[in-house]
Amino acid sequence: MNFSLSEEHRMVREAARDFAQTELRPGVIQRDTLQEFPDNLVKKMGALGFMGIMVDPKYGGSGMDTISYVLIMEELSKVDASASVIVSVNNSLVCYGLETYGSETQKEKYLSKLATGEYVGAFCLSEPEAGSDATSQQTTAIDHGDHYVINGTKNWITNGGRSDVYLVIAQTDRSKGSKGINAFIVEKGMPGFEIGPKEDKLGIRGSDTHTLQFNDVKVPKENRIGADGFGFKFAMKTLSGGRIGIAAQALGIASGAYELALAYSQQRKAFGTEICNHQAIAFKLADMATDIEAARHMVMKAAWDKDQGVSYDTSSAMAKLFASKIAMEHTVEAVQIHGGNGFVKDYHVERLMRDAKITQIYEGTSEIQKMVISRAILKN
Ligand code: CAA
Repeated sequence: MNFSLSEEHRMVREAARDFAQTELRPGVIQRDTLQEFPDNLVKKMGALGFMGIMVDPKYGGSGMDTISYVLIMEELSKVDASASVIVSVNNSLVCYGLETYGSETQKEKYLSKLATGEYVGAFCLSEPEAGSDATSQQTTAIDHGDHYVINGTKNWITNGGRSDVYLVIAQTDRSKGSKGINAFIVEKGMPGFEIGPKEDKLGIRGSDTHTLQFNDVKVPKENRIGADGFGFKFAMKTLSGGRIGIAAQALGIASGAYELALAYSQQRKAFGTEICNHQAIAFKLADMATDIEAARHMVMKAAWDKDQGVSYDTSSAMAKLFASKIAMEHTVEAVQIHGGNGFVKDYHVERLMRDAKITQIYEGTSEIQKMVISRAILKN
């Protein structure tokens, strides 16, 4: 067993850290306040290879492994979780889904543009009545021979207003349950496809979350991903990898808040000394450092499982469950360590605290992760 990173992995982490500190940090408070999507930064991340990290270079990707992906996700998320969720959805849900399960034509047409950041992608599973209970899809896709007609509403779609390519999950035959679900590639601008209002969110406010409406959207049959009825498995398999990305995001939010709290505690004085010298603060820092180290091991293990080609459904759920829990807990503690300063935007920790909450909700709530984990335990 080897716990050290390779030279290549260290360089990837350094590049992501440098980008996060020099490019993401300067405007992060403004983007959060005004809910500004970072269009120009997405282009820059595309140029650096962050939009198609694991995609084969023959489709314009960086050809890196999942360990590299989580290293990049952690560094971006320390500074700007809005930027990192754009990266995560594009990489884990859209590029991975297309590269692994798409046809050669679909890959040539869409993947090469998504992997370079020329296109942005969205993954459309959640609905007003089907969030956690993903088999209860109300959106329908009716087979009309050479095309499908999609009708329905999708909710809380990350990159919803800014994407060029939308992977849409819909019910084609309700009588078949989860085996009557398919996934489709829908392009921005297809007649009947409307982007609804942008959500005004608690956190990740620089990302773009919308309701989407499908009114008789005609989608050619060649835009279906995989064999008829594969859509639910497509969504579940893709989400397992997505959960590694969100676990890494949660880890980054926690470690970003910890680093800020540590630095603050070493310069802020109270009762005659730097506050880190008070056990009340030192013990908080010790708890944070320990939990972050544990979360990092879990995130790395899930990424390693995926790179080894072994099942990562359980390790990704465990990593997401734990990393999102400690992200929430320790961002609250980071605000506490900052005292009154923690409550104002300039110190960044209040934003990280707000951003942490979504990691316990999207790509499966903590309760969903517990369902996945407990089913795996009880099956064995
Ligand atoms: N890999 C492959 N197949 C899988 C699978 C996996 N990981 N998980 C389930 N399946 C298969 C099952 O084997 C089963 O197939 P068979 O009938 O052939 O046995 C089929 O799918 C149905 O599975 P279940 O009976 O387990 O389905 P369920 O209704 O009990 O639901 C669930 C399972 C885990 C709760 C699932 O519904 C789930 O993950 N829900 C959460 C959905 C979610 O994460 N939503 C987030 C939206 S996406 C998002 O947030 C993106 C964003 O914008 C940031």
